[in-house]
Amino acid sequence: AVIVLDFGSQVSRLITRRVRECHVYSELVPPDTTYAELQKRTDLDIKGFIFSGGPSSVYDKDAPSCDPAIMDSGLPILGICYGMQLLAQHFGGHVAPAQGRREYGPATIEVVPEAAQNPDVYRIFEGIHPSPVQTEHLDTVSQMPRLPVWMSHGDSVDKLPEGFQVLACTESNPVAAIAHPAGMVGLQFHPEVTHTPQGKDIIRNFLYRICGCSESWTSSAVIDEAVESIRKQVGKERVLCALSGGVDSAVAALLVHRAVGDQLTCVFVDTGCMRAGEREQVVETFSNHLHIPLIAVDASERFLNRLDGVVDPEQKRKLIGEEFIRVFEEQATKLAEEQGPIPYLVQGTLYPDVIESTSHDTASTATKIKTHHNVGGLPEKMSFKLVEPLRMLFKDEVREIGQELGLPEEWVWRHPFPGPGLAIRVIGAVDKLKLDILRAADKIVIDEIKRAGVYRDLGQAFAVLTPIQSVGVMGDGRTYAYVVAVRAVTTSDFMTADWARLSPELLARISNRLVNEIAEVNRVVYDITSKPPATIEWE
Ligand code: XMP
Repeated sequence: AVIVLDFGSQVSRLITRRVRECHVYSELVPPDTTYAELQKRTDLDIKGFIFSGGPSSVYDKDAPSCDPAIMDSGLPILGICYGMQLLAQHFGGHVAPAQGRREYGPATIEVVPEAAQNPDVYRIFEGIHPSPVQTEHLDTVSQMPRLPVWMSHGDSVDKLPEGFQVLACTESNPVAAIAHPAGMVGLQFHPEVTHTPQGKDIIRNFLYRICGCSESWTSSAVIDEAVESIRKQVGKERVLCALSGGVDSAVAALLVHRAVGDQLTCVFVDTGCMRAGEREQVVETFSNHLHIPLIAVDASERFLNRLDGVVDPEQKRKLIGEEFIRVFEEQATKLAEEQGPIPYLVQGTLYPDVIESTSHDTASTATKIKTHHNVGGLPEKMSFKLVEPLRMLFKDEVREIGQELGLPEEWVWRHPFPGPGLAIRVIGAVDKLKLDILRAADKIVIDEIKRAGVYRDLGQAFAVLTPIQSVGVMGDGRTYAYVVAVRAVTTSDFMTADWARLSPELLARISNRLVNEIAEVNRVVYDITSKPPATIEWE
């Protein structure tokens, strides 16, 4: 494993992702984690460290540092931005504000020819060539690579630490990268962001050429490990899993099923607020195709009764969350009565949630925007023990594993769907008719987006049924019908999002079909707000 110390950069977790994309296991840990603590972890074979960037200056009074034992461990260290400055300072260099030479955004680094003479120092850039489209980045005089990179720093190293050499510079910064032959490297730029096109190759060099890692983080290795640890955890006991129709709970269930077979029972609660064909698809895939024991409960009437007349979005979320737990508990009790106790509950918690809840700068003090209801969560009073096989995985890793475990492609790539379902996409009071209108609208939007081949480019796409009615004309008659809003966003983490620039032709097809095929709709609008200031869902 290669451990990433998080000094508070916005993109720290990206470093961990990049390392894993290079097939090496990586974890993000708080900066005050000690070397001794990490050494106690028998599951980690630590080959090196990466220090992330961060908002502080190393000469600030309260600047975060790390356990000196990590610095002096003799293991390779890659310091990025703030991490580089920390490394430089620890080994006797000096860092100062880059007076008038702050760099934010794109820059070009030029490798210093002397550095290339020393193979031990040059390892981090070995074999990294500008791609063909970037031939202008090859300095014709020295033939040394000039790489486009992404910079974001106000401080610079102005005195090199003992034994380090300058590897690269930029026009305004003479120390853009440094290295020590013993395996310590400092990069002033950010290799983890996509704006540094060869960044991943640089990280790969660190992992393989400097840390001597081997390729061990692959889908099949992850599956084997997960299966083994689930078996160890649950033994011969029984396990319950709430399927939501989304990819996380499905992959979690598949892993548990592979580990303990029919000790697992899945429950799917149809809240009446699901998309078209959702219950059928869950039953078809899980029961008929994957042969996993499944109980599908049609609870739609109960949910609709409770939602009757409720307009407030938070109230809707709360009611649905509560009702879900109630239905789920009833099923669990029934199952336990029939077949004996079920001590374990599967949860599809992902690594970003784990980081979120353990990191030092969590949003715990942030204003609550929405109450999230997570299917498969929360029946606290039943005191289940949790099985969380996806705890250490990022979403893209979950998808890869899902594919490997035989989850249908369509399911693997499905957009996220909120627990409260269509109830928070019918704006205002919810009833069966409105849900049916929205279901039909949602299907049209998704079908057309898939047909246009852009579904995977989008983070999420859906229809919203507004409570607004407007006047229209169809044939020779006046209509007075609902306005449907179409929402499509691109996003990398759902924390921020941009509205998708869908082609006018695609929007036209969606609009035509919505008004032609759904009698209750006579007007379509496209939502062109990003998040922030809007959110992705309307409620
Ligand atoms: P917002 O609307 O807050 O949504 O920008 C961000 C992401 O979260 C999803 N979402 C939910 N997911 N339970 C969930 O499991 C919920 O209650 C919930 N509410 C919103 C939303 O679809 C988007 O992907």
